[in-house]
Amino acid sequence: MAPFPTIDDARFAGKRVLVRVDLNVPMESGKVLDSTRIERILPNLREIAGKGGKVIILSHLGRPKGAPDPQYSLRPVAKALEIRLGKPVAFAADCVGEVAKKAVAAMRDGDYLLLENTRFHAGEEKNDRQFIAALAELGDVYVNDAFSTAHRAHASTEGLAHILPSFAGRSMQIELEILTNLLSNPAHPVMAIVGGAKVSTKLELLGNLMRRVDILVIGGGMANTFLAAQGKAIGKSICEMEFADVARQIVAEAAGAKCEVVLPVDVVVAPELAADVPAHVVDVDHVRGNDMILDIGPKSVAKIEALLERTHTLVWNGPFGAFEIPPFDAGTIDVAMVAARLSNSGELESIAGGGDTIAALNKAGVARDFTYISTAGGAFLEWLEGKRLPGVAALRNGARQL
Ligand code: 3PG
Repeated sequence: MAPFPTIDDARFAGKRVLVRVDLNVPMESGKVLDSTRIERILPNLREIAGKGGKVIILSHLGRPKGAPDPQYSLRPVAKALEIRLGKPVAFAADCVGEVAKKAVAAMRDGDYLLLENTRFHAGEEKNDRQFIAALAELGDVYVNDAFSTAHRAHASTEGLAHILPSFAGRSMQIELEILTNLLSNPAHPVMAIVGGAKVSTKLELLGNLMRRVDILVIGGGMANTFLAAQGKAIGKSICEMEFADVARQIVAEAAGAKCEVVLPVDVVVAPELAADVPAHVVDVDHVRGNDMILDIGPKSVAKIEALLERTHTLVWNGPFGAFEIPPFDAGTIDVAMVAARLSNSGELESIAGGGDTIAALNKAGVARDFTYISTAGGAFLEWLEGKRLPGVAALRNGARQL
């Protein structure tokens, strides 16, 4: 049984159901560029509507500054939802007040309504009591189906759970169940691949992971800081030299925790990060002053591949190189293909999370081959770090009676 109430525990018929989802999706000129997050929430929305609930959808989009900002309007997303649900989705131009109340009052059982971006009100991010009360007025029940925003203690992600009967939605339930199952008692050896630009944003993650994994592969820009901390020349590459001591400490502590830290042994360098620049591979001892490290090289890929062959669980967050611009995507794609092959043959449980990682795996065409892809970025990292996620904690303690 889940350690929090799920929608199996709720009765929705005739009820106004406030469903918090994460429609913070990449958009360009009113078009949704990646619909992974939308696809994941559809079963939950359909189930509540099918059980006779009035489905009132809440979400944020982007980071508006607590006031309406047309570039972050959810209006175009209502269309995207409507197409995928195959049912009309009404839209209200405000998430509280008269506009929202009128739209809710017009709903029949089983209808869908999307309310405008919750972050158009400063009370959302402040988790303000009055704003929570204004949202709560619109519903009888609260369902949180946004694992990817569970690390935020905002009115619609946390506050509402304290005053309405509250339940985890299906995708929230599935994310938590799968991540817990796969990672609470993982098959060893466990490998974590942590990439991304900055070591400073992932210090806690690395500290937590080294005690839980057998092999810690460090990639992306943050690997440069580790290489520089070992006294290697890294040319013009991005680097946070002020974290060199921390990097040395992480490597020393990892040795004490019997965790093997893997850094690149060769790298792809170029004079700058741009398409069509001359790039070549060098060993990490031969990076020159004018070089920028932009990916890992084939020897590094082979080393990681050999380690993956004897790994049973892989957790991956962050690409190895500047994967948006070929040829600097090659290292990430090559490692992703190996992980996909081993996952398909049942030798590896592979879990990946984070927007860049998902984009890289989609680019490699292997996202479907992974055991599980989490839609969450920040929340996935905080969960891996062992932090308490306020959105999940509130569901555990929230009102249960209906
Ligand atoms: C995400 O994209 O990780 C979530 O939607 C949270 O967005 P935020 O970082 O703007 O709070």
